[in-house]
Amino acid sequence: MRSLSVLRLRVSESADLTPTVRRFVLRDPAGLALPAYEPGAHVVVTTPAGHKRSYSLVDPGGARPREYTVCVRRENDGRGGSTSMHDDVTTGTELLVSAPVNRFPLLPSPEYLFIAGGIGITPIRAMVHRLRAEGRTGARLLYLTQSAEETPFLQEFDGPQDTVHHSDDRGLLDLWPYLAEPDDDVRVYCCGPAPLLRAVRAMTAHWRVSRVHMEQFAAAGSGFSLPFTAIWAPDGRRVEVPAHLSLLAALRRDGIAVESSCEAGVCGTCRLALLGGEVEHRDSVLTGSERLSGVVACVSRATSPEIVIGPHGPSRRDFS
Ligand code: FES
Repeated sequence: MRSLSVLRLRVSESADLTPTVRRFVLRDPAGLALPAYEPGAHVVVTTPAGHKRSYSLVDPGGARPREYTVCVRRENDGRGGSTSMHDDVTTGTELLVSAPVNRFPLLPSPEYLFIAGGIGITPIRAMVHRLRAEGRTGARLLYLTQSAEETPFLQEFDGPQDTVHHSDDRGLLDLWPYLAEPDDDVRVYCCGPAPLLRAVRAMTAHWRVSRVHMEQFAAAGSGFSLPFTAIWAPDGRRVEVPAHLSLLAALRRDGIAVESSCEAGVCGTCRLALLGGEVEHRDSVLTGSERLSGVVACVSRATSPEIVIGPHGPSRRDFS
């Protein structure tokens, strides 16, 4: 179980970038330098209403940053985290903010192809700015949004290596011409909503796995899918998990205590043992091998009608 160190930071600036996206700059109230971070990192912010939400840091970072900048897109039909940030936070508000965590690091490569969908630009912006500040030329960006009005940082991406595409004007961009030829000298980084990630994953199936990096934004808010049954291995209890409820919430409803912290799939506190069945992992904390025997209850969902779970600790084999 991992715990993130928590800072109390003050909002020193807030401003709308688009009608739905607001930028928040967070600083230490005493002006102290903040923990280091690198492009791709995120922080977990506790909103005034008590939601814990993961937001990418949009600046390139470094050893002693003076501020963390995050951008929050308002989701009126979400679970309340973004509306609390928009409605309850203003300049001067103090927020609890985790130290940065990076599960989407920028790895060395001769060239890069960045694909950002909507608010998925946030970690990609940090990466592109870092590379361009270093004078690197091989950093191509495809930035896909609905309209110019809803394109944060639009004015920053008008160079020869930038393609900004608005679907309202021209429909969906065909990504195949960019991905048809695998290239071991290129790393693909993609961040955006689930349909974009699925499309890029399908179109890079013939690429070397190590060259393709994906991050789905708003993992916890990506929408729940089908109902399923979770069988609690210690006593065989059957927990019905409806479409609108997380596995974590359903377990608690039925009296099974599970610890949690971020409730956004980033800290691992609510990890359980996965003893049977198939799961769509929506967290950004478990490694590939950990996903064979673990499930993060706050965000992940079963893809089989039933799964068997238990407290984190014993291996899958111990319960079979
Ligand atoms: S509570 Fe943090 S990953 Fe579930």
